[in-house]
Amino acid sequence: MTDSDVKALNDLTASPHNIHAERILILDFGSQYTQLIARRVRETGVYCEIRPYDMTQASVDDFAPNGIILSGGPESVTRDDTHRAPPHIFELGVPILGICYGMQTMAIQLGGKVEGSDEQEFGYARVNVQSEGKLLTDIEDGTDASGRYLDVWMSHGDKVVALPDGFTKLASTETTEFAAMCDESRGFYGVQFHPEVNHTLQGELIMQRFLKDICGCECLWTPANIVDDIITQVREQVGDKRVILGLSGGVDSSVVAALLSRAIGNQLTCVFVNNGLLRLNEADQVIELLGKGSSNVFDLEIITVDAEEKFLTRLAGVSDPEEKRKIIGNTFIDVFDEESAKIEHADFLAQGTIYPDVIESAGNKDGKAHVIKSHHNVGGLPDYMKLTLVEPLRELFKDEVRKIGLELGLTHEIVFRHPFPGPGLGVRILGPVSKEFADLLRQADHIFIEELRAADLYDKTSQAFAVFLPVKSVGVVGDARRYEYVIALRAVETIDFMTARWAHLPYEFLERVSTRIINEISGISRVTYDISSKPPATIEWE
Ligand code: XMP
Repeated sequence: MTDSDVKALNDLTASPHNIHAERILILDFGSQYTQLIARRVRETGVYCEIRPYDMTQASVDDFAPNGIILSGGPESVTRDDTHRAPPHIFELGVPILGICYGMQTMAIQLGGKVEGSDEQEFGYARVNVQSEGKLLTDIEDGTDASGRYLDVWMSHGDKVVALPDGFTKLASTETTEFAAMCDESRGFYGVQFHPEVNHTLQGELIMQRFLKDICGCECLWTPANIVDDIITQVREQVGDKRVILGLSGGVDSSVVAALLSRAIGNQLTCVFVNNGLLRLNEADQVIELLGKGSSNVFDLEIITVDAEEKFLTRLAGVSDPEEKRKIIGNTFIDVFDEESAKIEHADFLAQGTIYPDVIESAGNKDGKAHVIKSHHNVGGLPDYMKLTLVEPLRELFKDEVRKIGLELGLTHEIVFRHPFPGPGLGVRILGPVSKEFADLLRQADHIFIEELRAADLYDKTSQAFAVFLPVKSVGVVGDARRYEYVIALRAVETIDFMTARWAHLPYEFLERVSTRIINEISGISRVTYDISSKPPATIEWE
């Protein structure tokens, strides 16, 4: 890139908006929907962060929110030893929306009363809107004999039975008198139902009402503004130094590559590591889609490193899934360290860490969540690592990363690719990994994905792949007996990858894939389909 190109890019991308200037604080009481609240806020165009319910006064002041949302939670406020919101938030003079447990703790902390109830409300409920509170004005699903109503999603046992001073009733159901409450003068609102879930039909409007009309946000958090902001920040952080990026061809690292190429042009060197655990033709595809001389706009400098032997040697004979993940993660870092030593002034390592990784690893550190699987891209850098991290997607959810990818001009094919885990086929070959197993799995996976695309089912599943089971099973091909390995097919539908339903793929389709795998791969004699949902199963097998 010439100097004038860089200047033109600078002018084009100089950030006119401070996209963090308006910000919503979400205090987390442990609800399974907390991330969903944050995604709804972001979709409305407002920056927000999830923080633990016991955030200190100094941290809240430092955050300087335009509004606060108190999430739901699994506990009961009727017990004295359960979580409360930091009391001073009610003195800050900013609007507060309490959802479910958040409403109940707001009620109790401000002098109202909450009781347990024998009748739990779970699922759809109809709430009648009782007054013209700002939160629900002109928002309705219809009217019945009792007036305006909303069809909402409820999930609670306890309920508010007496309002705090200054509050009025906003809505009720047959069994819950105070299904929503408000104190207009202070901008405090409580809803017993969950506006953040899609089942609450007007949920999006209610969230928009709170954010725009009540908190006064202008909604600056848009893909174009986010791109501008990240570019400015990356330039400030990196200066004239070089950045190395581990490019895997997955959505996150491809978006990081596109962003960095816009931000720092040829100061970026991408390193694509063949760890022997990639999908079929992965390296060629990535270079074709993003590399120099290809038809795309990015023209990235990509160094390919063949580290298959190194990875497979270190993994030989290791069967524990967590140990396999750690070996793969550490070997990646070693390879990057070696490569960066060869590049002058390479001081930075870019990673595609996204916001859910940050939240989940914080939860793990606090001991508030169990480590189910260690994802190695958060906080996993060894002390001897010399490079400083650049993590431009650290504040973004997956759907935001995809929007930004499209904004930057990445193809639909890259942006909507199914996720592929960092440890790759290493966690899809059960037990010890070998080249023989990886080669068999690669072929089976390729057939499955090829058929999904041909049947127009690829975009209808969220993630699909084959798994190698190192057990032998008897089969017969022609007149000959076969005693070979088993492949399991896994396909799921999910929005957030935290929960997932196994995809109900057509039988004829599964039959075609199974026939092809057994006929075309001589080391496989049987194919099964995984019909476990998450939870209790996870998406990957290890
Ligand atoms: P699980 O198996 O935990 O997977 O239900 C949820 C999603 O995360 C992906 N995954 C990983 N991604 N490094 C990653 O970058 C990992 O170690 C890892 N483990 C699982 C998985 O493919 C699914 O999309």
